[in-house]
Amino acid sequence: METIEQIVAMPRIGDQAPEFKAITTQGEINFPADYKGKWVILFSHPADFTPVCTSEFMTFAKMEQEFAAHNCQLVGLSVDGLYSHIAWLRTIKEKIEYRGMKNVEVKFPLIEDITMNVAKKYGMIQPGESSTKAVRAVFFIDPKGIIRAIIYYPLSLGRNFDELMRALVAMQTADKHSIATPADWRPGDDVIVPPAGSCGVAKERMDNVEAGVKCYDWFFCTKELPVENV
Ligand code: BEZ
Repeated sequence: METIEQIVAMPRIGDQAPEFKAITTQGEINFPADYKGKWVILFSHPADFTPVCTSEFMTFAKMEQEFAAHNCQLVGLSVDGLYSHIAWLRTIKEKIEYRGMKNVEVKFPLIEDITMNVAKKYGMIQPGESSTKAVRAVFFIDPKGIIRAIIYYPLSLGRNFDELMRALVAMQTADKHSIATPADWRPGDDVIVPPAGSCGVAKERMDNVEAGVKCYDWFFCTKELPVENV
């Protein structure tokens, strides 16, 4: 018998992504091993044949190639069964035209999770919101299988896909250039250089500001990072 603590246990940023094997609309997957070397967005949605989820799936499908261009694969999940998933995805392709999107084929795997095994491992069942449906969770998992960011939305709120892409690119840019990104950062904006680790470095930074670097104070310096280097 599972305790409520096990049901609502949540992986945290910096944790190894919990492992599972699952049946999906694209065959069986072994997670995260099958995705080694790639970023993954693992996301849950409450239910098939529902309007907010349909708008989200069409948008994820439309952006799949853009995510792939950033070495990122999409994996969806709901606590519905495989045949429901297949029927819903067929309906989306054959019947739904929404905001200029039509004939949309969802090619990324959608996990069937009737047992809620995966949803519970990832803290996607949040009983205060619903004990029978997953909330809208988004896990960003890096090429080493580490959870790097988590966003949760309630059932009624469709996700912001610009933000999902922005967060992915910002984390990849932070890794590549050893920088951080300020509020509302977009590719091409200035980035934050690591803070000075000693009084000497702090003084040096303020006295001799390098070209392309701007210091607002000793602990807050930015530098240019042209969009083509992101
Ligand atoms: C929806 O996707 O439209 C939805 C799903 C569950 C609850 C509320 C809305």
